[in-house]
Parts: sequence; structure tokens; C-alpha cells
Amino acid sequence: MAKPANGTTTIASPPAAEFASGWTYAPAPESVKVQIKPRYTHFINGVWTRATGETFPTLNPATEQTLCEISQATGGDVDKAVAAAGAAQPKWAALAPGERAKYLFRLARRIQERARELSVLETMDSGKPIKESRDVDIPLVAAHFFYHAGWADKLAYAFPGRTPRPVGVCGQIIPWNFPLLMAAWKLAPALACGNCVVLKPAETTPLTALRLAEIIEECDFPPGVVNVITGDGRTGATLASHPGVHKVAFTGSTEVGKKIAAATAGSGKRLTLELGGKSPHIIFEDASLDQAIEGIIAGIYFNQGEVCCAGSRLFVQESILDDVTSRLRRRLSTLRVGDPLDKNTDVGAVNSRAQLDTIRNYLRLGADEGATLHECGTAPLPAKGFWCRPSFFTGVQPSHTIAREEIFGPVLSVLSFRTPDEAVARANNTPYGLAAGVWTDKGGKIFDIARKLKAGVVWCNTYNKFDPASPFGGYKESGFGREGGLHGLRAYVDF
Ligand code: NAI
Ligand code: MG
Repeated sequence: MAKPANGTTTIASPPAAEFASGWTYAPAPESVKVQIKPRYTHFINGVWTRATGETFPTLNPATEQTLCEISQATGGDVDKAVAAAGAAQPKWAALAPGERAKYLFRLARRIQERARELSVLETMDSGKPIKESRDVDIPLVAAHFFYHAGWADKLAYAFPGRTPRPVGVCGQIIPWNFPLLMAAWKLAPALACGNCVVLKPAETTPLTALRLAEIIEECDFPPGVVNVITGDGRTGATLASHPGVHKVAFTGSTEVGKKIAAATAGSGKRLTLELGGKSPHIIFEDASLDQAIEGIIAGIYFNQGEVCCAGSRLFVQESILDDVTSRLRRRLSTLRVGDPLDKNTDVGAVNSRAQLDTIRNYLRLGADEGATLHECGTAPLPAKGFWCRPSFFTGVQPSHTIAREEIFGPVLSVLSFRTPDEAVARANNTPYGLAAGVWTDKGGKIFDIARKLKAGVVWCNTYNKFDPASPFGGYKESGFGREGGLHGLRAYVDF
């Protein structure tokens, strides 16, 4: 099994005799057909703009095929979208709150009705496994709209003794890892509080946001309440610094987050940033190990590690280090990498060639710095598409680049600790602070450790569990502001 020559070992699939699950599955491709137009334009003031100007393709990262052409919004398009939102906003805010709620409930129901189509589209455009888009992303999208529809006529109860007013026009910039879910996180509270929106999805994954615009049209939203424009970072930058935008909400890289913070500083714009992470798991010797391994695997590998809160540093109590490493290796060898539309697939395609190059760079760097890379699986990967085998590093020092920087790929760094205090100190030793996982059988230890971890979310004996009522957001370079729950509403109201 081991091939230590260049600091890399390959984990072969286990022999059938060793594992009852030595069988292979027949492909079970998702059968829903989705319609994709050859070209999409921008959705501004309730209508689709004329097909003129520059375009760029969006690919299916599992096949490298172009799905369709997307329009690059110009400064003029951003102006029009912001003006449409500005004109619609006073009327939207003046609607009886219960009426706003009706629109949001209608949207949530329509998303549920079209959930299968949205899941397939999300998987085709992003490369994430259909299991994830169908069972996690899209149900949470609908849940988010339902939850915020419920708040629309109860804002006075959310902020007792205050008179919450909408902020105005919101410019919302979305990343490619959870395209529709991040759109829902941003749109739902903004609309519930009486704001209007200009939304810009990421350039590699615009299709579900554009489909959402079609659904919004179908739900008869007043023109200009939601505008969706597409384009790259230039469009994002123009939107974030537009004088007609009162609030900017961004999810993406820390690097771009810092640029947006600089561009909006002193402008009076409200800003929330949800940025990167290097989230730690701490696993104690008294933990239920199989349960912990499942949580750790789900927390990083099921979306190819393209998760802002991915648990990418694993701190293992020294006494169980070998046991945990061998369980991890064994479970990893059963993960299926391949066609994201296959219901049996655990790990899909990396979102873009650029992201795959970034991940490969870190894999090389980790080995160069002296850590040992364990790569999962020997089955050939598809010839086309952007693929990365799930892997982990052992022999990692806290000073290694792979232990410090966000990789955003299916790569876990395994480190160790002796005492709870050392675990906390090592886990907190990062510029980030988005999430953390604690695995132990002892309730007292959970409360003690969770309190000391500098992370926006601490999951205990579970990981990556989301609910619209629960706020999410970071410390330090993971950003500021919260999304979801009562705390998330605060970003979209003024007093
Ligand atoms: P990015 O931060 O460049 O892209 C996110 C969004 O910001 C996209 O819609 C993009 O068009 C827009 N954008 C780009 N430049 C902008 C600017 N100057 N002003 C306003 N908007 C701008 O992320 P990228 O380059 O796709 O990924 C790079 C790294 O960022 C990844 O390797 C990963 O580490 C991290 N990342 C983190 C995410 C998270 O959820 N926290 C999501 C996506 C990426
Ligand atoms: Mg795409």
C-alpha cells in the first residue's frame, strides 16, 4: 500500500475480502433533464436585457463542456440595475409586510417544486455531487426563504423597542462553492426587511442564480426588487463601489474581501464579509471514533473541500493518533470520486482548472515542506474534467503552509496534541476563525473547549450542520457580520 519514496503514499481500494463493500455500483445518473439556453443576459427591472456585448462561457467542470454563454455586465448595466433597485425599493418597503411575506413564501414553494431541476443545474455548473445539491443545498435554499418569509411581518418583535427600517439597495456578491445557497442567504433577509437587491453570481457558476431570476419573474415580483447581473470581478468591484448601493454583502476570498473593505471604507456603506477559513477539528481520546471520522470526512471531502468552513486541520490527541489515521485512511479509500450527476458519487469535480491548479500547488508544497501525502484511490479518474483525489497529510508541523493557508480542496492536514489547553492554543493559532469541530464523549469538555475556541460556529460531535435560524459568520480574517437567524437580519435594517 505504501510508496514512501517521494513522501507520498497511495491508498489503494481495499480488497473485497477485507471489506463487505468491495462491490462496485452501476452508474445511477440523475435523470431530470434541464433546459439551458445558449446565452443568458441580465435580469434588470423585471426584464431580460438585450443580447449585446461581451460574453464568456460557463463550463461543466466534470466534462469541460461549455454549458452556455454568459453576459459580462458593463458599468452601464450595473448603473441600470442599481437604478432599478433604487426605484423599486420605496414601493417594496411600503408594501404591507404580510404582502412581502407572501412573495417570499411563493418563491420558497416554487423552489421546492423545481428542486430537482435546480439541483441538477447546480451540479452541472459547479461540479458538486448531486447528493449534496439535492439533499443539502437546494432544501436549505427553500428553508431559508421560508424562514425569512416568516420574519417579514414580525420585524418589530425581532428588534423590540426599535422601529426597523430597510437599509436601501443591497449589492450582493456570491462565490462559486454554494452558488444558489449563498444567493438565498443574501436575498432572503434583504427582501424580508424591505430592501431591493442587485445580485452578482460567480462567473463559473451563474446558472442557478439566473434560473432563480426566472422563478422570481414567474412569482410576479414587482420589477426591480431583485436584479441579477453576471460578470467577473470587474462587475463585482463596480457594484461594490457604486454610489447607489447602501449595503454590500460579500462571500468569497479574503483577498477580495479586503479589497471590498478598502473600496467601501468611508463611504457610509454597510458591509458584511464572509471569507475564508482554516477550521480545526479537535478529536479527544474519549470520542466515538467512527462517528468522528464520518463527521470529519463529510466536513471536507463531500464538496471537494470547496467549503469556507471545511474542517481542514485535524488535531488528534496523541494517544489515538495512529488509530485515527488508519481509520481515516480506511474510510477514505471507500469514497467514490467521479461523475457528479451519479447518485453514488461522494466527491465531484473541482470547480475550475484554476482552483485545481491551486490545490495541486499546495499538494506539492506540503510534500516539499516535509509532510507525507496520503492520496485516496487508484481507480482511474475521468480523462476530461478537473479532478482531485481526496487526500490527507501526516507529519504536519503548525508552521507548514498547508497547516496555515486555505487550500479549498479535498486535503486535510493531520496534527496532534497532548492536553486540552494545547489543543485550543493550536486550533486558535490561525488568522481565520470561521468554524470548529469538537469530538468528545464528555459534555463538560465540550462546553469548556467550545467557549475557548475563536470561531463563529463550533460544532460538537457533528459538523457542517446548517439551519436558517442559526447565525453563521467569522472572527478575524474570516470576516464580520452574521448571516441567518435574528443576527443575520440586523445587517439589513437601520434604526
Ligand atoms: P473570489 O473571491 O475572487 O470570488 C468570489 C466572488 O467575488 C465572485 O463572484 C467574483 O466575481 C467576485 N469578485 C472577484 N474580484 C472582485 C472584486 N475586486 N470586487 C468585487 N467582487 C469581486 O474567489 P476566487 O478567485 O474564485 O477563489 C480564490 C480563493 O478564494 C479560493 O481558492 C478559496 O480559497 C477562496 N474562496 C472562498 C470562498 C468562501 O466561501 N469563503 C468562496 C470562494 C473562494
Ligand atoms: Mg460552470
